[in-house]
Amino acid sequence: MKHKTIILLFIVAVAAVLLTVFSERPISAQQKATEKQTESCITAQCHAKVGKEKFVHGPIAAGECTICHGESPKHRDDPKNNKFKPIKNISEKCYSCHEKFKTKKFTHVPVQDGDCLACHNAHGSEFKFQLKAKGGEMCFTCHDDAIVSGKFVHGPAAVGGCVACHEPHTADYAKNLKAEGPELCYTCHTEKAEIIHKSQFVHKPVSEKCTSCHNPHSASKQFMLEAESPALCLTCHKDKKDQLASVTVKHGAIDRDKSCLNCHDAHNSNIAKNLLMEPMDMCLNCHNREYKRENGKPVSDMKKWLAENTDYHGPIKQKDCSGCHNPHGSTNFRILRYYYPPTFYEPFSVENYNLCFSCHEKTLVLNPETTKLTNFRNGNMNLHFLHVNKAVKGRTCRACHETHASNYPKHIREAVPFGGWELPLNFQKTDSGGSCTPGCHKIKKYDREKKEANL
Ligand code: HEC
Ligand code: HEC
Ligand code: HEC
Ligand code: HEC
Ligand code: HEC
Ligand code: HEC
Ligand code: HEC
Ligand code: HEC
Ligand code: HEC
Ligand code: HEC
Ligand code: HEC
Ligand code: HEC
Ligand code: HEC
Repeated sequence: MKHKTIILLFIVAVAAVLLTVFSERPISAQQKATEKQTESCITAQCHAKVGKEKFVHGPIAAGECTICHGESPKHRDDPKNNKFKPIKNISEKCYSCHEKFKTKKFTHVPVQDGDCLACHNAHGSEFKFQLKAKGGEMCFTCHDDAIVSGKFVHGPAAVGGCVACHEPHTADYAKNLKAEGPELCYTCHTEKAEIIHKSQFVHKPVSEKCTSCHNPHSASKQFMLEAESPALCLTCHKDKKDQLASVTVKHGAIDRDKSCLNCHDAHNSNIAKNLLMEPMDMCLNCHNREYKRENGKPVSDMKKWLAENTDYHGPIKQKDCSGCHNPHGSTNFRILRYYYPPTFYEPFSVENYNLCFSCHEKTLVLNPETTKLTNFRNGNMNLHFLHVNKAVKGRTCRACHETHASNYPKHIREAVPFGGWELPLNFQKTDSGGSCTPGCHKIKKYDREKKEANL
């Protein structure tokens, strides 16, 4: 390096000396012209700065000036009084060496206008491709930089990597993008692409357009989101928005932490409805502890209950908590999908048991006599009818059955809540009937094969 500089300085010094010596010598006009022709336009006096930039345009590096500017011997002779003619059609000039950009779906307006010099320096610059400024800064000479002023800025946009996504000249896709929809994002987010492609269920907007949720440049919320769950979700899921606004019994899961994302994955899943886990596992992932309701009353630990009680109700065996509960909230107590009375006694009406009768036959409690509608009968006498179907003090199903599970057959309860008491039921099942010795009356038996009742 040092040697080169020394040699270069030497040559320049010698040239300068020779120049002063020979310039004294009288020469003919013709001689002068031919001499000047071969001389570079870049001299200590003239255009000294041209070609000194970090990135120099090919023809300038080769000392070719006239190829763009044309010949102007007068200018050389008398630069002060003979201006260069400006280049008439700059883009045509560029295209005389560079292949013209193909007409595609999108052409950037300054390119359309032939304004190559809006972005490029014709001679050279401090930036690659002789660009006039670095990355985004150049784009922001025309575009509003508000797009990157959000609190959370996307990696490539933050470092001015606009051309990672946008073609500066012409493109096959709208907004001069290099690719369309998720494909654009997948060019970098290869891990995400792999996970999504492997998944059984992909959220529709994810397979269509990542930017329906993420801003590609910046946004006020983490991950360049315009809003967080639940607001984000509810911008599209209007029916859920209406539902959440109308429910009187809200589910704590939606009010806390990540809201919808407590249960759903925003992108993909191997479980239907984009759930994070198998539905029951998900419920029990939270309901593995006691919660306090707003009124201070506890919500019991369901996981513990199911571990301690082994006779499961059908839908629990099927792991279907949502068969009865609406995870998004409800107008019924305990976020139940259908009405079910919260009380021990309730005047009878079929509607009161809409929940149970969404799966079971309501004839269970409608016919006073039966030989097949229920096994809870004494001879032909329907004991479900007897206990439940009463104008006053009809017993609700919870008087005898646990809803989720118990350690008794037919998930009969161990004990009945009665005021502050827990009255034991002592249910005993037999081949043709059963008995109970509840706190409310002495032992009662029923037998399907006997006509005589002991009630
Ligand atoms: C690739 C084409 C091209 C080449 C080669 C080229 N120029 Fe230019 N030059 C331009 C363009 C385009 C402009 C802007 C002209 C305009 O706006 O009309 C320009 C402008 C200029 C200007 C005006 C002042 C300025 O810098 O904007 C000078 C002086 C100049 N060139 C000198 C040179 C010299 C000396 C060379 C050779 C070392 C050279 N040019 C080679 C295209 C070129
Ligand atoms: C006389 C022919 C010629 C003209 C006219 C010309 N260029 Fe070039 N340009 C070249 C050459 C040669 C290179 C160097 C190519 C290389 O390094 O691969 C180059 C390189 C470039 C590069 C950098 C490309 C790269 O891959 O590094 C850009 C940008 C560019 N020119 C823009 C322009 C613009 C804008 C104009 C019009 C103002 C223009 N050129 C006019 C010959 C020309
Ligand atoms: C809006 C700004 C802008 C305008 C206008 C523009 N360019 Fe470019 N050009 C760029 C940027 C940015 C790059 C670098 C692309 C990259 O990094 O991949 C580039 C790269 C180039 C290159 C080299 C790489 C390639 O794509 O071949 C050439 C040649 C080029 N431009 C020529 C032109 C010509 C000719 C014009 C006018 C018709 C023009 N540009 C107008 C921004 C612009
Ligand atoms: C010389 C000014 C200028 C520069 C520099 C410039 N643009 Fe543009 N760009 C425009 C104009 C004018 C439009 C037409 C639409 C508009 O007015 O927003 C446009 C349109 C666009 C569009 C499409 C907008 C739409 O709504 O369809 C995108 C994307 C874009 N530019 C990106 C860029 C990027 C990226 C850069 C930097 C590499 C850049 N621009 C540099 C002037 C410029
Ligand atoms: C990760 C890819 C990506 C990067 C990086 C990126 N953009 Fe964009 N840009 C997009 C997408 C996608 C759109 C279209 C958004 C839409 O349609 O909703 C867009 C749209 C635009 C628009 C049109 C106006 C708008 O907001 O819709 C402009 C202008 C623009 N980008 C400029 C830039 C500039 C300047 C940079 C660099 C600071 C940049 N972009 C970086 C992907 C990107
Ligand atoms: C040019 C490469 C590139 C492209 C294209 C790209 N990204 Fe990124 N993205 C990055 C980089 C780099 C980061 C920052 C590194 C990180 O946090 O993982 C990032 C970060 C993100 C983040 C935040 C991740 C986190 O953990 O904080 C999201 C969300 C994101 N990108 C979404 C998108 C979307 C949506 C698209 C398509 C519109 C897209 N990206 C296209 C490179 C890219
Ligand atoms: C329905 C809205 C939505 C769509 C569409 C969407 N995302 Fe997301 N994305 C989110 C949310 C919400 C988060 C925050 C994740 C969380 O907290 O679980 C996120 C987070 C991310 C993250 C960072 C955290 C992570 O999971 O790695 C990346 C990267 C990402 N998204 C990329 C993408 C890509 C790529 C696409 C398109 C293929 C896309 N997103 C489409 C809503 C969306
Ligand atoms: C850009 C609009 C949009 C946003 C934002 C959005 N979704 Fe969706 N979502 C849809 C569309 C469209 C469907 C498909 C509906 C259909 O097929 O009927 C869907 C379907 C769903 C489904 C049902 C999937 C299935 O398999 O049936 C769930 C669950 C879901 N979204 C949850 C969410 C959650 C949680 C969020 C917030 C993180 C969210 N969505 C944000 C548009 C959106
Ligand atoms: C406690 C867990 C949980 C939370 C929190 C939750 N969901 Fe769901 N979501 C489910 C389950 C389970 C299903 C499937 C069962 C069903 O049909 O209800 C579902 C189904 C859906 C569906 C499919 C259509 C439907 O109703 O069956 C959409 C859309 C949906 N949820 C959106 C949301 C949105 C938006 C939020 C946030 C406001 C949210 N979910 C919060 C558990 C949850
Ligand atoms: C993210 C944790 C979380 C998940 C997942 C979750 N829950 Fe909850 N759930 C709660 C909290 C917290 C409460 C108590 C606070 C409240 O409801 O006000 C609650 C209350 C309940 C209640 C009592 C409601 C009332 O008004 O008394 C029922 C029933 C319930 N959840 C069922 C379910 C079912 C079924 C699932 C699965 C589909 C589920 N939960 C998933 C957190 C969760
Ligand atoms: C057959 C319908 C049904 C199914 C299936 C069901 N539940 Fe329930 N659940 C109820 C009823 C009815 C109540 C109210 C019980 C009562 O007060 O007698 C209730 C109450 C609850 C409560 C509130 C407990 C309390 O202490 O107040 C939680 C929590 C709960 N269920 C969670 C679950 C979970 C988790 C699942 C799935 C493992 C599930 N439920 C399945 C009907 C059902
Ligand atoms: C989502 C559907 C569904 C709902 C709602 C439902 N059940 Fe069931 N129930 C079943 C299924 C399935 C079985 C199992 C039937 C079988 O094994 O033949 C069952 C069985 C029973 C049994 C008999 C248990 C056994 O071991 O044979 C009783 C008792 C019972 N349910 C009571 C109720 C009560 C009380 C309600 C209302 C609080 C109710 N069910 C609501 C689906 C439901
Ligand atoms: C007074 C106690 C009691 C009440 C109240 C009660 N059941 Fe039962 N139920 C039983 C007994 C005991 C059995 C077991 C019969 C047998 O198999 O011997 C039973 C069995 C069942 C069965 C299994 C099929 C059958 O009929 O044998 C279903 C389903 C059922 N009950 C649903 C309900 C529903 C729904 C309600 C509320 C509308 C309800 N029960 C109220 C005591 C009761």
